[in-house]
Amino acid sequence: MTAQTRVLVGRVDELPEGSQRAVDVDGRSVVVVNHEGVYYALRNNCSHKDYPLLGGDVSMGRITCEKHGAKFELATGKPKTLPAVKPVALYRTEVEHGEVFVLPL
Ligand code: FES
Repeated sequence: MTAQTRVLVGRVDELPEGSQRAVDVDGRSVVVVNHEGVYYALRNNCSHKDYPLLGGDVSMGRITCEKHGAKFELATGKPKTLPAVKPVALYRTEVEHGEVFVLPL
């Protein structure tokens, strides 16, 4: 195994389609989303203002910040609607032995 930080998010059966969970990776909150069976992980902090993305509506591959409505692409972290103009940091996910992990990119 590598020395990279790898954080357990939970078991696959605890993270069904449509679920979200926040975990701490190297002191930063990361939101993990199961969208259409794929796990995505993004910095849990909107790039517009200091506001968590956890709990935001997810559809069409995007998560919506509940504060002012910016949408971020789950696969890239890029903002797709104003008022956000900067991307949020992306993390990597992996599934091993029925458990979901998140890692820095
Ligand atoms: S804080 Fe997220 S859109 Fe303003």
